[in-house]
This record gives sequence, C-alpha cells and structure tokens, in this order.
Amino acid sequence: MSERFLLVKQSQPLQGFVEVTGAKNAVLVIIASLLLAEGKSTLYNVPNSADVRCFIALMMELGALVHFDIKQKILTIDTSTVNKIEVSPEIMNMMRASILVMGPLLARFGKARVALPGGCLIGARPINYHLQGFRRLNILLEENQPYLFASTNTSTSAPQHERIALEYPSVGATENLLMYATLKPGETVIVNAAIEPEVLDLIDILKKMGASISCEPGQVIRIVGVNHLKPVEHTIIPDRLEAGGLLLAACVTKGSVHLPNARADHMDIFLEKLREMGHEVYTGTNPTPTHPLQGVSLTACQNPRGINIKTGPYPGFPTDLQAPIMTAMALSKDVSTVEETVFENRLMHVKELTKLGAQITVEGQKATIRGVEKFYGTELIATDIRASCGLVLAGLVASGETKIGNIHHWERGYDKLEEKLRFMGAQISLINPDDEPTRQIEESLLSKRVA
Ligand code: EPZ
Repeated sequence: MSERFLLVKQSQPLQGFVEVTGAKNAVLVIIASLLLAEGKSTLYNVPNSADVRCFIALMMELGALVHFDIKQKILTIDTSTVNKIEVSPEIMNMMRASILVMGPLLARFGKARVALPGGCLIGARPINYHLQGFRRLNILLEENQPYLFASTNTSTSAPQHERIALEYPSVGATENLLMYATLKPGETVIVNAAIEPEVLDLIDILKKMGASISCEPGQVIRIVGVNHLKPVEHTIIPDRLEAGGLLLAACVTKGSVHLPNARADHMDIFLEKLREMGHEVYTGTNPTPTHPLQGVSLTACQNPRGINIKTGPYPGFPTDLQAPIMTAMALSKDVSTVEETVFENRLMHVKELTKLGAQITVEGQKATIRGVEKFYGTELIATDIRASCGLVLAGLVASGETKIGNIHHWERGYDKLEEKLRFMGAQISLINPDDEPTRQIEESLLSKRVA
C-alpha cells in the first residue's frame, strides 16, 4: 500500500473562528487515571487522535469497557472490569505514554508488568526518574527484557511518609508517581514536580475522584493517600499546542484567527513571543477563578521581527511549540535563535525546512535562523508530531505544492487539524493514494481554490 501524505499548497491569508479540541497530553494521562476509580467515568472534549485511539486499545487490553462517541467527543470508560496488569510491547512501542498506566495499576492491584518504552526520534526518553521515585515509594522492580515487573513491597505495611525530589521536573514521572500516591497509605511529597497545565488537569480530576492533593509554592505537590476513589465526569482542557499551531498558521499566512475557548493563561510566554514578533494578540479579559482567561485572537503583522527562544519546563517556552514557531521565524525578516533544552534531539525539522529554502544553521542544541522571503514547495518527511505541524505551516506559504510524508505523527497528535485549517482557507488535504475517488475529490477541491 502506498504511503498516505499531506498535500499542502500555497494558500491565501487564513481567517477563522475555530474551537480548540481537548489536550492530547491531558487526555492520555487522565484516561490512565480512571484505573484508580473502579466504575464508569465520562470524559468530555476528547480528541479523536491516533494516540487517544491507541490508549483506548490499551485500556480494553486491560479489560475496561469503552464507548467513544466521536462526534460528541464523549469518552465513557468502565474500569470495574479491568482484570489484567500487563501492557504489551506492541502497544508500548506505539506510544510512550503507555508507561502512565504503571502508577494506577500499582495503586489498584499492587503490581504491573509494562514493556520498557522505546525511545523515539526526539531522544532516548528513559524512565529513570519514574523508577527512582517508585523505589523511594517502596516498589520492587524486576527487569526481564522487554518487560519491567513492578510490585508493592508487602513486607512493610506501616504507612510511610516519603519525600521525592525529581532531578528534572519530568511531566510523566510527576504524573505516574502522583497517581500511585493517591491510594498509597501515608503522605508523599514530590519536590521539583512538573506543573504543566496538563498535570494540573490531572490533579483536578483526581481531586474530583476524592484524592487528597495540594500544590505548594516551589513546584511541590503533597499527596495524602486515601482508601477509595470514585468514578467521575470531567471536561478535558483545550489543547494549548493545537491552539499554538492555529495561531501560527495565521501568522505565517498574514491572516487572522479567533480561538474562543483557547486558554490564554496556559500560553503566556508563547503569546508574548508572538507579540515580540509584531503580531497583534488579544486575550480574554478579567479572568476569575471560575472563569479563567479564555479566548485568544490574533491579527498577523506584515513584517514579523526576529526573536530568540529557549525551551524549558512550564511556564517556560514549550518544547512542543518549538518546531512550529521555527517556521514562522524562518519567514521573518531578521535573524532568530532557538535553543532546545528539553529533548536532546529535537531539531531534525531543520533539515526539512532547509529543503524549502530556509536558511538555518545548527550548533549542538542551538539553531540560528536567517529569515527568507520565500519557500519553494517540495517533498518533506515529518520527524515527530510537532515537526509535522511546522512543516504544514511551511507548506501553506511555499510556492507550488508541498508533500509531507510520515503523517502518522500528524495523526497521532491532532484530531483532523487539516480540516480546521481548510475551513480557514488553507489548501491542504490528506491524500490516500490507494483511495482514488478521495484523491480525485481532493484534487478537484484544491484546483477550484486556485481560481
Ligand atoms: C510529556 O512527555 C509530553 N507527552 C511531551 O509531548 C512533552 O514534550 C514533554 O512532556 C515535555 O513537556 C505527554 O504528555 C504524553 P518529560 P514526557 O518526562 O512525560 C527526560 C508531544 O509532542 N527524562 O517531561 O515523556 C526526557 O528524555 C509530546 O505531545 C529522563 O531523562 O516528558 C526528556 O529529555 C512530545 N528520564 C525530558 O526528561 C525520565 O525518567 C523531559 O521529559 C523521564 C524523562
């Protein structure tokens, strides 16, 4: 079967009023957390992305009953039927986030057998911080490649009070340890914890379930174990990463966009950087605890300035928006720099952007981008979820047409984002060469737009 690909053509300035879908990096861990609360929970605003479908497959492999109303974006999961504690290598290798069932399985069943997650293109992505934390929580770990078997040490039943200091504020390690601690007797304190909006959304649903969790100054999370958590209903936060991609699509095509439900308070530094480039960015007014800062509007400037960004843990500049904003930098009139500090190999999209005519040099983890006037369409390969977004943005501006392969990355991270972009005026289609009728419809649609 020949490869599917995204076909992107030079497009007019994008204009749109677009609703942002639920956050992939919140919904995956929140699905895992439902293992802690036996019974039927319901999640709203759930994106229909490949990673979500993969996590649903994982939950069904464990024995959960699942119903996903894709149209309504409502996911109902009954975990009372879960009767397995093993995650297969096939699932683990498809999606690193599968490691996030380890904490909930240990909390509920006292054991878990997970295949060690494969690294991926952006880095080795070990789980040492997860395992160091679990050891501190008296978990026994036995490695029999490709599996890791974890179990609670029943020899000591007295409640323990543990203090875990994470060497790096790892999102996954914070989430895994936090979920386990909700049902562990005693108090657990996580120091140097990750505080990304997706972590806080997990804490929100855990507290609804009945968990005792407090976030304290200095990225400290304090958890006091309880005996039981109950199933709940919860709405997933809007995806700040999809919102960032939509805002940048308006930037690079010199258009404008309004995102009524985007959480501006999850994107402060990113929005500041767009303003520094010269774009007009408006956010909701007068936020209150019950009505957070919602709604972001952007009108692109005609001659964006160069900027410098350095990625880092939240609230720093998000590594997941580094590739998309680099495309905008490459089309500005100045020199910009990007320093990637979160992943050791997350500049591979530079090679793809230079194929379009971008002027970018890389030294270690730092890229220097000299803005150019034009890009020239060509064939590109996506190297990770967020790089695929950066390449799509580049294709919207490149003359002629751009063909982007390895689109499983795009489909893993986004819920038909190409359709949203098309409604904004983008000439973009997901082409399945084996499906001739679709291809002809897409081609005719694209050719009509040219007129
Ligand atoms: C989460 O990954 C996100 N994924 C990533 O989004 C995101 O880029 C990342 O957090 C940082 O914000 C999900 O939430 C599903 P980390 P995670 O643990 O938890 C190293 C996307 O495109 N590390 O904070 O894996 C690690 O290798 C994805 O949506 C260790 O060395 O991120 C990396 O260099 C990409 N040992 C750094 O820390 C560990 O035990 C940050 O990793 C754990 C992590």
